[in-house]
Amino acid sequence: MNPPRRWRVRPATKPLRGAFDLPGDKSIGHRALLFAALANGPTTLRNLSGGDDNLRTRAALESLGVRVVERDGAVTVEGVGLGGLRAPGAPIDCGNSGTTMRLLAGVLAAQPFASRLVGDASLMRRPMGRVTRPLRNRGARIEGVIDPARRDELPPLDIAPLDGAKRLFELEYALPVASAQVKSCLLLSGLWADGTTTLREPTLSRDHTERMLAAMGAPLQTLGPAVHLDPAGWDGALAPLSFDVPGDPSSAAFFVVAAHVVPGSRVAARGVCTNPTRTGFLEVLRDQGGGAVVAPKGERGGEPVGNLHVGVGDTGTLRRAARVGGELAVRSIDEVPALVAAAAVSPGESRFEDLAELRVKESDRIAALVAMVRAFGLGADATDDGLRVLGGRPRGGAVVRSEGDHRIAMAAAVLALAAAGETVIDDVACVDTSFPGFAAILRGLGADIEVES
Ligand code: S3P
Repeated sequence: MNPPRRWRVRPATKPLRGAFDLPGDKSIGHRALLFAALANGPTTLRNLSGGDDNLRTRAALESLGVRVVERDGAVTVEGVGLGGLRAPGAPIDCGNSGTTMRLLAGVLAAQPFASRLVGDASLMRRPMGRVTRPLRNRGARIEGVIDPARRDELPPLDIAPLDGAKRLFELEYALPVASAQVKSCLLLSGLWADGTTTLREPTLSRDHTERMLAAMGAPLQTLGPAVHLDPAGWDGALAPLSFDVPGDPSSAAFFVVAAHVVPGSRVAARGVCTNPTRTGFLEVLRDQGGGAVVAPKGERGGEPVGNLHVGVGDTGTLRRAARVGGELAVRSIDEVPALVAAAAVSPGESRFEDLAELRVKESDRIAALVAMVRAFGLGADATDDGLRVLGGRPRGGAVVRSEGDHRIAMAAAVLALAAAGETVIDDVACVDTSFPGFAAILRGLGADIEVES
């Protein structure tokens, strides 16, 4: 089948209705696969995202000698233990996935063999100094390509083997910017280090790595935005942790916003990860007069899970502009595109601040979001560290380019439901990196979205 090229979205003529399950969380999926490979024994994972990003992590592990078998929708990873990875025969292609590249960098920096990490055109432009510098500080031999303009390093990342019996050494590091990818990379490298790894973030980013590694028996302790790993006296064994990956809240966010954008909607997303480091977007929407009711449904893989109901229990509509900044910016970092779609139909001027990181995501999301809002005939301006959006009624006839970024494409589709006429969204194959089933779920709720290949 040809990949989808463009969507045509027509304004909603009736409320969205329905309940649906979501594919597994992308961040948790990367970690579940990678940590399973390092465990002593087999792990079976269900509801892994079928998106390309998680598949890249899986393929990378296979190229490092890890056996992965898929049967009846479940993926079994034959863990090789901390000493069992093998030299890859070729450069490892991380595709569009920054998480794959940055987490693997931490693992590979501690190995006695050489490796090289590459990616697609977007990933090859993303900054890697944030992982290479602290890794070198603990003795790793990892180099990117110097980018003099940005004073940073870009992929490919070349990793030389640690000589002989040499091991990484201790690291105490204050992350300049909260980042789960950097934190996870450095913690992973610490599993093989002689000495402790102590990390501190300005505010706590998503903590899936800490939860999962601790549940598998790694000697790790957390205190707020600080984490400490002390392998002294540890036998290096990680116990396999089989579980059903909770649904992805970043994917849920698009439907939660869609239900706010189309009056009278009532939707429910089942089995979503409700880890508070991921649910900042619900707080933003609640402050705007909307939100979702969260019905807790226990725990999976050390993560809280719940059903999100929108339109039940008088969650109401969006009566106020959005304010995103500070720690809320970190806890809603990937949901900003969805929140911008909501802001575009909310009264007044919404402000998104402390979001300079959005410049270096899968696209320059600040520029892409400003262009998206303007394509709908509404006001938006980029600021130093974010954007401002003036809400109103989106005009029909907009043509939006995704800029190769899955979250821009999905945000535009949601906003298009409130537009005065048909919207065309170009270059939507990128949605397959995280959420191949997006258009089908939106259509299942009653939206008119046509996929052209
Ligand atoms: C991710 C961390 C975040 C997030 C990204 C996934 C992860 O990036 O934006 O989509 O899985 O660790 P940073 O670590 O760069 O903040």
